[in-house]
This record gives sequence, structure tokens and C-alpha cells, in this order.
Amino acid sequence: MSRPINALIDLSALKHNLSVVRRYAKCARVMAVIKADAYGHGLLRAAEAFSSADGFAILEIDAAIHLREAGYQHTILLIEGFFSKSELELFERYQLSAVIHNSKQLQMLSAYKLSGKLNVFLKLNTGMNRLGFTPEQFLKALETLQSNSAIDQITLMTHFACADNRNDRKEVIEQLQCFNSVVTNYDLPCSLANSAATLQYPETHADWVRPGIMLYGASPFSDISASELDLRPSMTFTSEIIAVQNLNAGDTVGYGQTFCAKQIMRVGIVAGGYADGYPRHAPTGTPVLVNGVRTRIIGRVSMDMLHVDLSKVANAGIGSPVVFWGKGMPVEEVAQAAGTISYDLLCSLTQRVKIKT
Ligand SMILES: Cc1ncc(COP(=O)(O)O)c(C=O)c1O
Repeated sequence: MSRPINALIDLSALKHNLSVVRRYAKCARVMAVIKADAYGHGLLRAAEAFSSADGFAILEIDAAIHLREAGYQHTILLIEGFFSKSELELFERYQLSAVIHNSKQLQMLSAYKLSGKLNVFLKLNTGMNRLGFTPEQFLKALETLQSNSAIDQITLMTHFACADNRNDRKEVIEQLQCFNSVVTNYDLPCSLANSAATLQYPETHADWVRPGIMLYGASPFSDISASELDLRPSMTFTSEIIAVQNLNAGDTVGYGQTFCAKQIMRVGIVAGGYADGYPRHAPTGTPVLVNGVRTRIIGRVSMDMLHVDLSKVANAGIGSPVVFWGKGMPVEEVAQAAGTISYDLLCSLTQRVKIKT
């Protein structure tokens, strides 16, 4: 028997979550964001589940090529574009679409003799101040692309900084107004919305939405749960109790002795630690399911193990199932307790966790 730690990927949940995107953004095409190994779910596994999407957005060129070679005919958008002239040859050969966000990329495109045609997404910086041309530079960049005979379809895009903030619409509206004022004279397709904007700002849907986290069944909002949005968890990270300790009042558990029992209690030792992708900084109190019962982790997470409070789970013992996150234990709740976000947890699983479908 091997170490009992697994991640169960629910393909029907992935498909269902895509249908939720379609329900919200009825008139837009859907670019499923599958970067970072599809948020930890496995590239080809997720691509198959999302095969009815209109396109895939990705970051890693090797992964993009892998998708093409696996037979996917979809639009495949590289969301940081290309980094060198030599990569352009791959974009051409594999018919990959490139985000163009800086002047160096424009120069590389002008200098490269493409024999075919390339589709590009020109990125406007509307206030995120990460990637993209300023409104002043943008129209010049657009002209440059339009005069390049090797460029086929041009789509205009931006990315929101605060679409997940439900208390204040100001930032999104300002970014949207900035985008609209710059692109207004051009009859070109547009793409703006991530998951939060897809769910909350129908006015941003335009021609392509680019959802990521909602496809994986997590809510982008801190005050609305995934189930309230009809999203289903697609990754359930599980393990088992491999030892039980009986503590007396005053006994401690784990490295640094950071947890001290106030009374007699049973503690389950679970196969799963930071070398598996469970966050080391998750404090005592972080929720976890044991035998289907909600309890808490206690003490410091170590490399291969962590400890759970069995006070309320009297029937638990060696072999009892543990759910770190997923079905019955929303990943957002665990992330919040650990001072991070669901994206971080989903992407963190390491190779020694067996993936099952
Ligand atoms: C350009 C771009 N579009 C869309 C997304 C998807 O965002 P989310 O996972 O919040 O839906 C990302 C994710 O970081 C992104 O970088």
C-alpha cells in the first residue's frame, strides 16, 4: 500500500462549471484559462473537460504545443505572448495566438518574416499597471499591427485589478471606461473579463470572457460561496490518519510545541504536509474534515504530516479519511484560514500527490 494521499479531480464538476460560465456570459466566447497545469488539475485532463470551450488561455509555450499536438484545434492564447524572436517560429508553426503587451514584442514581430498569419490580442493597461500599453501608446501599437500583413485577427484586451471586490465598483468601472474610450473607434473583438467580472459585471463580457478560478469550482469573492454561485469543487485533496496520539493536559504536539492541550484529547496524525502542497503557514484552527466531520488542524504543519483535533470525532482512528479541501470543505475557507487564496492552494500540489479521476 502506498502513502494514502490523493487529489481526486472531478471531470463532471469541471464541465458543470463551464456550463455556469456559459449561463452568465451567454453571448461571449469562452477562453478557459488553463495556465499553471490548469490550476493544478492537469493540463490535458482539464482541456478534455473544457473541450466545448472556444479557446484556451495559457502561459507556458511547451504546454500550448502539447495541447496542439494532442489535437486541440481551439484558439490557444499565450497570455504573456512570446519572449524571443525564435519563439515566433513556434507561434506560427502551431498557430498560437499571442498577447502583445510591450514594444519589444512589436519590434520582434516587425523584424520577423512570418510565412503565415498570426492572431494577436493587443493589451491595454487600464489601471492594473502590470502588462499592457498605456492609452497613449496603444493606438500607435494598433496601427503598427494593422500595417503588418502577417497579422490576421487583432483582438483588444485588458485585465481587471479589482473585479472580486464586491463593496466598491469604482475601480472596475474606471478601467472599463478607460478601455471603452480607447477602443471606441475600432470595430475589433474585445476581451476583458476574468471569473469575477464574468460573474459580476455583464457589461464587461464583450466577445471573449477569460474565466479561470470559477472553472475549478472556487468563488472569486470573499462573501459569496462557490455553492451559492452553483460552482462545484473540482479538486478534492484527501488523505488518511496514520497514527493517533492521546494527550494529557499540558502535552504539546509537533515541531516548536506550538499547540498545548488544555485537557485530555486525541490527536490524529495525517499523511500530508508542506512537501505535498498543504500550506505550512496554516495555523491551528484551519478547518479540515475527518470521517466527514469538520474539525481543525493543530500545531505546526511539517513536511510530511500534520495533526488534527479528534475531540469531536470520537470514532476516528488509523485509516480514517481526511479531506484537506474539496467536496465538503471549500478550498476558499482553508485558504482564508491559512492567509492565502484558493488559487495558491490549488496550484501547490506536488508531484508526490497521486491524481485520480
Ligand atoms: C490575463 C488573465 N485573464 C484571465 C485570468 C483568469 O483569472 P481568474 O482565475 O481570476 O478567473 C487570469 C488569471 O490570472 C489572467 O492573468
